[in-house]
Amino acid sequence: MKLCIDDADVKKIRHIYEFYPVDGVSTNPSILAKAGRPPYEVLREIRAIVGDGELFVQATSLKAESMLEEARRIVKELGGNTLVKIPCIPEGFKAMKALKADGIRFIGTAIYTPMQGFLAAKCGAEYVAPYINRIDNMGFDGVQVAKDIHDAITRSGLDSGLLAASFKNSQQVLELTKYGVKALTVAPDVIEGLVRNAAIDAAIEKFTSDFQGVAGVGRTMADCL
Ligand code: G3P
Repeated sequence: MKLCIDDADVKKIRHIYEFYPVDGVSTNPSILAKAGRPPYEVLREIRAIVGDGELFVQATSLKAESMLEEARRIVKELGGNTLVKIPCIPEGFKAMKALKADGIRFIGTAIYTPMQGFLAAKCGAEYVAPYINRIDNMGFDGVQVAKDIHDAITRSGLDSGLLAASFKNSQQVLELTKYGVKALTVAPDVIEGLVRNAAIDAAIEKFTSDFQGVAGVGRTMADCL
């Protein structure tokens, strides 16, 4: 399963890349707006951090023809391993079919229902992105919607998979990790929350104090011979 960062804050992305096994970065128009700088300036900096990894950038138009134009420009500016996020609305499906014919890689996004995901996969989307927490907030079960999409795609033999998005807690992340989905994209604070735990800190502190009790303060296995 791939794990991506759902953010455009260059400092946070650099930090997560330094410490965690991540595979790429996803953005959307709201995330880019939060960065408060020209979008391509931010995205080029992110591309430099990500290297050859996957970068996900959303088309913002509401008409298929303009989405295609945006997609070509996004890939031209940001390189081959950039996937264009296309909203799963009727104009989006029209754009997806044309992108598939053009050989431009894309993902279906803004997914709240299983059939949106299935249709995007059928259009040739490499990934489909259900919004887990937003679905939960509507009073439905985001994890279950994501599992349903995963099952529909897998059982239909479609060459696609989830890039599940919109996570707000570790449990949502765990449920889909256990299910074996293709990818998750998770905000930096939620990624760090996966290992933020007083029991872990206490265990590490105890190891350190026990060891230093015998080897001396500040000493490690590298210098206690
Ligand atoms: O990119 C879409 C998704 O990640 C949105 O997340 O936190 O705005 O619900 P959020």
